Amino acid sequence: MEHPIILAIESSCDDTSVAILAGQKMLSNKTYNQDMHQKYGGVVPEVASRSHQQKLTTVVQSAIDEAGISLHQLDAVAVTRGPGLIGSLMVGVSFAKGLVMGLQIPLIEVHHMHAHILAHFIDDPKPDFPFLCLTVSGGHTQIVRVDSPHDMVILGQTLDDAAGEAFDKTGKLLDLPYPAGPVLDRLAKEGEVKYSFPEPKVDGLDFSFSGLKTAILYFLRDHTADDPDFIQKELPHICASVQHTIIEILMKKLITAAEQEGITEIAIAGGVSANSGLRSALEVIGQEHSWHTYIPAFQYCTDNAGMIAKAAYYKYLKSEFANIDISPSARLEWQ
Ligand code: KG4
Ligand code: ZN
Repeated sequence: MEHPIILAIESSCDDTSVAILAGQKMLSNKTYNQDMHQKYGGVVPEVASRSHQQKLTTVVQSAIDEAGISLHQLDAVAVTRGPGLIGSLMVGVSFAKGLVMGLQIPLIEVHHMHAHILAHFIDDPKPDFPFLCLTVSGGHTQIVRVDSPHDMVILGQTLDDAAGEAFDKTGKLLDLPYPAGPVLDRLAKEGEVKYSFPEPKVDGLDFSFSGLKTAILYFLRDHTADDPDFIQKELPHICASVQHTIIEILMKKLITAAEQEGITEIAIAGGVSANSGLRSALEVIGQEHSWHTYIPAFQYCTDNAGMIAKAAYYKYLKSEFANIDISPSARLEWQ
């Protein structure tokens, strides 16, 4: 069937999301974001899995209602198998198994990071193959050469923290609410790039962000020793400077990758691709290098089931179905 109706579930971290895709058309994409983690300053795995358990049925129902379909019209159910928090993944995978057994339809397992990349195929314009994708999220930072929806090669990745973690950990040092990425982005717009931080020296196309975190820690410690109100007075400028450094690190490697591979179709994906500074840097640098650039719509940057449905669509076309006895994997391998 060329136009399958697929229900997709994403529960790898702290977003409970369900989407329904009919052929190429996204009929619904509903997400419940677990804001209770804010008070802990990070995602608490136990709290996250319990919340998925509580909310998933409601989110499924609202996705079905919005799509205006009945469960019996579904051709397949897709679910994120990993990577992610094991307890959170377990809730989505178990629910998906129950649904496919009840409805007697196939199960499709999806790799979360493949799905971030394939989110580019939900709406136009779509990149041509092969393209490069800088995938930047709370758990990953990768440069991937995408040869087809089924063939992706990691050219480089972070050796320690992810770009999203660099934003979130800086936010913690600045006492910003979790997740700090969007808050830091907003504050950076009101500031200037006044301070500089050392950029890591990492070979090839790999990244490292843990040194930056330490540099910011010492920077803040030294300045607040001189002036206890330093953070309060300089917050937008600190945010603008940190964001600038993170973007510089990312873009330099992306330029190297594009030159090395001779590819000018360039995309960004993942939660950090919602960052306004990164989005405009890609456009500016893209023009300088005559790239065709692809930036996902905001709703498909951070975790969402729409991207899971799209990745599953390509698997459905090849009848790549999962066994009913699969279990989730926190560190699911790149297939
Ligand atoms: O892809 P995602 O929703 O979840 C993971 O798979 O990790 O990414 C979440 C990450 C968090 O670190 C969050 O702070 C970051 O994306 N993020 C941002 C922005 N929006 C989300 N970072 C910088 N600027 C933003 N506007
Ligand atoms: Zn993600």
